[in-house]
Amino acid sequence: SGVRVQVPASTANLGPGFDTLGMALSLYSWIEMKPADTTVFHLYGDNLDGLPKDKSNLIYTVAQSVFAEAGVQIPELEISMCSDIPLTRGLGSSASAIVGALYAANALIGSPLPLARLLDMATALENHPDNVGASLYGGIITAVWDGTHAVILRIEPPQHLEVLVAIPEFQLSTSKAREALPKQVSLGDAVYNISHSSMLAAALAMGRLDLISAAMQDRLHQPYRASLVPGMMQILEEATQHGALGTALSGAGPTLLALVNAQSGQGEQLEAFLLKVLKSHDITARTLWLK
Ligand code: HSE
Repeated sequence: SGVRVQVPASTANLGPGFDTLGMALSLYSWIEMKPADTTVFHLYGDNLDGLPKDKSNLIYTVAQSVFAEAGVQIPELEISMCSDIPLTRGLGSSASAIVGALYAANALIGSPLPLARLLDMATALENHPDNVGASLYGGIITAVWDGTHAVILRIEPPQHLEVLVAIPEFQLSTSKAREALPKQVSLGDAVYNISHSSMLAAALAMGRLDLISAAMQDRLHQPYRASLVPGMMQILEEATQHGALGTALSGAGPTLLALVNAQSGQGEQLEAFLLKVLKSHDITARTLWLK
């Protein structure tokens, strides 16, 4: 007998909350896991092409780390996975695989490890808690991490909040997008981000959609990543004039994300604006409406 888990994609940062804020998105991957005589993988869908089908597979190694931690031995596994989450676009595909593997492996042995322990293990693998925290806890999350332990606060997403993503055709690795960042920032920029991130978390918690555009501004990472996603700065600066509550680079990019009031009636206009700006930079993208 095995287990099957469904894990959401996630967007990290939400603009100012670099490595801190995250939100689960209604786009999913699924993992099935059961004990087997010999280890075998079934990977379905374009998004998983090229992933290893032997014991070097991340799902397998993560599952084994759960068993080791719990003092259980299940060396051979049958693992099935399919995913609607595009790879290396800033939608947390690797975080969802890690979280799915941890959760499925733990469930397979009767869930001896608490969620908080799974969060610490997931964060250690990703090196930041924002994507894994959102995939594991759902909703909107604000996280702190001291390098060993993460603490998460889950915020119920405001009613009427919708998410529009524009997913460029090209891939951008997180490591490349992190290399673009400076090692040091000014006190002024640090204060700028603390204040905006705090305001954004509080506004989301209180359902104050009117404060999102003022809060969703960032000086820690997006300006440095702008050259990696042509058209991004124009979208960040102008999308509120086309119906967005606020916009951000989704995680390390290249996906761009807009928060939208579902009642605004401006969704189509916004979608057209995002695609037009990207197209003017020769970038083909597809849009998705998510919750
Ligand atoms: N917070 C991370 C970053 C998310 O922006 O680099 C990417 O995985």
